[in-house]
Amino acid sequence: MKVIRVNDYETMSKKGAEIIISLVQSNPETTLGLATGSTPIGLYENLIQDHKENGTSYKKITTFNLDEYMGLDGDHPQSYRYFMDHQLFNHIDIPKEQTHVPNGNAANMEEEAQNYDNQIKAHGGIQLQLLGIGNNGHIGFNEPGTAFDSRTHIVQLDESTRKANSRFFDSIDEVPTHAITMGIQTILESKQIILLASGASKADAIHKLITEEPNEDFPASALKQHDNVIVIVDKDALPDTNLKLTDGITLEDLA
Ligand code: F6R
Repeated sequence: MKVIRVNDYETMSKKGAEIIISLVQSNPETTLGLATGSTPIGLYENLIQDHKENGTSYKKITTFNLDEYMGLDGDHPQSYRYFMDHQLFNHIDIPKEQTHVPNGNAANMEEEAQNYDNQIKAHGGIQLQLLGIGNNGHIGFNEPGTAFDSRTHIVQLDESTRKANSRFFDSIDEVPTHAITMGIQTILESKQIILLASGASKADAIHKLITEEPNEDFPASALKQHDNVIVIVDKDALPDTNLKLTDGITLEDLA
C-alpha cells in the first residue's frame, strides 16, 4: 500500500483524477468502480473539466458503483444513482446504460445483490476501484465486523454512519437503515484501488489504516491484503507523519 500525503483537498482530487484519466486514455474500454460521498466530488469535477478541455472520452467505459441506500428510487435526490448522474455521468459522454448502481428498491434484494456481483464478473472485473473511508473504517457500506470474504450484500447501517450521512437529509429519521453494498471480497478483486481521505474527521481512520494489522473490526484494513492500493490523503487526514508503518506500507510526503 502506497500512501501519498498532499497539502489539501484540491491536490488530493487532482492526483486521484490524474490516475483515472491516464487509465481511461490508455484503455478506453476499461471498467471503473466508483464511490459517492463528499470525498470524490472534487475528483469528479477534475474528470469533467478534463473531458471538456481535453476530450477524454468515456463512451466505451463501464462503471460500477459501490453501494446504494435501500428504499430510495434513483430519482430521489439522496440516492446514489441521483448523485452519480448529477456529479459525473450527466457531464461526460458515458452512455447511461454502461453505468451501474445497485438498485436499492428491487423486489428481491438478495437476487439484486447476486446479480450485481455477477455483472461485475461478466465485465471481466473492475480495473480500478475508487474508495472513500468512513470514520469507523467502512469501505463501501461494509461496516465493522463485515467478513473479508463478503460479496455484494444487504447491510444494516451503523448508527454512526447514519449520523454522519444525516447531513444530506432533513433529519436522521429520513436516513435509510439499510443499504446494498459491494462486499469486501468484491472490492479486493479490483485490479487497482485508490482510496481518498480528506479532513481532520478522517484522521483516526487513516491512522488505524496505516498502523493496524488487517482485522474485521476495521474494514479498510482488508486493503492491506491487496498489492496495488494507493491511498491519497491530505495533511488534515494524516497530521502526524512519524508513524510506525506496518509491513508493505510506503509513505510519500508531498505536503
Ligand atoms: C460511498 C461509500 C462510503 C463513503 C464513506 C465516506 O459510496 O461507499 O464508504 O466513501 O462513507 O464518505 P464521505 O466521502 O462523504 O466522507
